[in-house]
Amino acid sequence: MGKDSMTNLGGSGERILDVEHLSMYFTTKKRGRTSTVKAVDDVSFYVKKGETFGLVGESGCGKTTTGRTIIRLYDPTGGTVKFDGREISGRMDKNLHKYITDNIAMIFQDPIASLNPRMTVQEIIAEGLKIRGVKDAGELRRQVVAMLEHVGLQAEHASRYPHEFSGGQRQRIGIARALIVQPQMVIADEPVSALDVSVQAQVINLLNKLKGEMGLTILFIAHNLSVVKYFSDRIGVMYYGKLVEMADSEELFKNPLHPYTKALLSAIPEPDPINEKKRVKIHYDPEIHKYDESNNPSYHEVAPGHTIYCSDEEFENYRKEWRA
Ligand SMILES: Nc1ncnc2c1ncn2[C@@H]1O[C@H](COP(=O)(O)OP(=O)(O)OP(=O)(O)O)[C@@H](O)[C@H]1O
Ligand SMILES: [Mg+2]
Repeated sequence: MGKDSMTNLGGSGERILDVEHLSMYFTTKKRGRTSTVKAVDDVSFYVKKGETFGLVGESGCGKTTTGRTIIRLYDPTGGTVKFDGREISGRMDKNLHKYITDNIAMIFQDPIASLNPRMTVQEIIAEGLKIRGVKDAGELRRQVVAMLEHVGLQAEHASRYPHEFSGGQRQRIGIARALIVQPQMVIADEPVSALDVSVQAQVINLLNKLKGEMGLTILFIAHNLSVVKYFSDRIGVMYYGKLVEMADSEELFKNPLHPYTKALLSAIPEPDPINEKKRVKIHYDPEIHKYDESNNPSYHEVAPGHTIYCSDEEFENYRKEWRA
């Protein structure tokens, strides 16, 4: 199995997003010293049309950077991204910018910081339509009201300002703003982590409902597996800029192989108090891999659609473990 095994194989559905060997390095200068952060480093994954792909990993592992690089808020250091077969990681021009913003929308983690406090809800949601040339005030109003109702808000909310809403309602406004232009794909960057637990499920249910109604594809970013468990079709696990494991959700929960995935799984509290008492939290130590020049990790596919980033030697062991 070579480095590209994962991009040649895979499930049946049509791919809408293809990320191949994507890298995004940041160079920072401090007191004359330059240092490089490999926020995203040789990451490959794909998302199929109509599915929800969960991208999971701890704080700082590069999830947001992956999303922002896909929609070209950053220029990638390396690799390619294709959307619906068209490369979107190449030289930026007006057409490409339009293609990306017409097709991919982003929902942000913090609905307070991402909504302009001086704009009314009407203005916030209508912005994307105006950029696309809709000028008629009545038409803008009609579309905004329809979208507000779609996300569980009301027509009279259009004239209010973001601070007049609860956290959950603000995230509904953020969702309405993202979806008003009818994108094919939504990158939802931890859309519920700033919300009360009681509101999280409501917003997730709303996203699921909209996904069905609008035929959306969702790239859902989260830092823990319990949030994505119930509604992701496939999951990718990130650790320090690398995508270490990817599989169908069911397969990942049943047969986790990478020790970091196992650690993430062991962090999920058990609903049953007896099982919760027995739960052993696994600590992941990246030193165990002992990677070096002669023992480099790369992508290997252990079962259809189930890939692990590991060395050849590790792969042999994972394969045995998977079969057992
Ligand atoms: N614009 C930037 N300039 C320099 N470094 C950055 C920049 N954006 C992100 N980084 C660094 O890249 C790494 C990945 O950051 P990123 O925000 O993508 O992580 P994340 O997985 O989204 O984390 P979180 O769960 O906290 O949102 C971090 O080390 C971060 O400090
Ligand atoms: Mg983030």
